[in-house]
Amino acid sequence: MQDPALPFHRLIYTSQAKLPLETGVLLRQAQKNNPARGITGGLAVLDGVYLQYLEGSEEAVEALFARILTDGRHSGVKVLERRAVTRRMFSDWSMALLEWTPGTRQIFQGFSPDSALNLYETDPTTAAPLFRAWAATRDWHPLSPSEG
Ligand SMILES: Cc1cc2nc3c(=O)[nH]c(=O)nc-3n(C[C@H](O)[C@H](O)[C@H](O)COP(=O)(O)O)c2cc1C
Repeated sequence: MQDPALPFHRLIYTSQAKLPLETGVLLRQAQKNNPARGITGGLAVLDGVYLQYLEGSEEAVEALFARILTDGRHSGVKVLERRAVTRRMFSDWSMALLEWTPGTRQIFQGFSPDSALNLYETDPTTAAPLFRAWAATRDWHPLSPSEG
């Protein structure tokens, strides 16, 4: 049974994009679908790698992730974290896109195990803190539920 103290579910994964990148198309799909399903989150894209943070009810997040898993626009999907949480991190955004600025790069550098900035090698134990640090910046292109 779901713990009432942990009403939300989050799933963080990374994958390798098939080129050409279709980030705009993906974001429009997320904007169309996520609000009705109560899903919010963030997406980072760098050098052909996706890093996505999804949050909402367990049922909604897992149903979306099952579709994402079979999406031919990426491969090598690696789940970094999947757990129940107390609150949302991106409550206002149906799916925000991270903007790469000196600040967001520096945050990522601080969490990276080596000098290469490779999203695919994000440490599973620091994936959520990484998004939390990014979320505290204003360096996002938000798509709010109301825009959808
Ligand atoms: C990296 C990545 C992230 C995605 N994120 C979302 C998302 O947040 N919401 C969503 O509905 N679809 C997302 N998709 C697309 C889904 O895999 C799927 O194509 C889409 O939900 C189908 O939407 P439709 O039923 O409106 O055609 C994502 C796909 C990829 C490759």
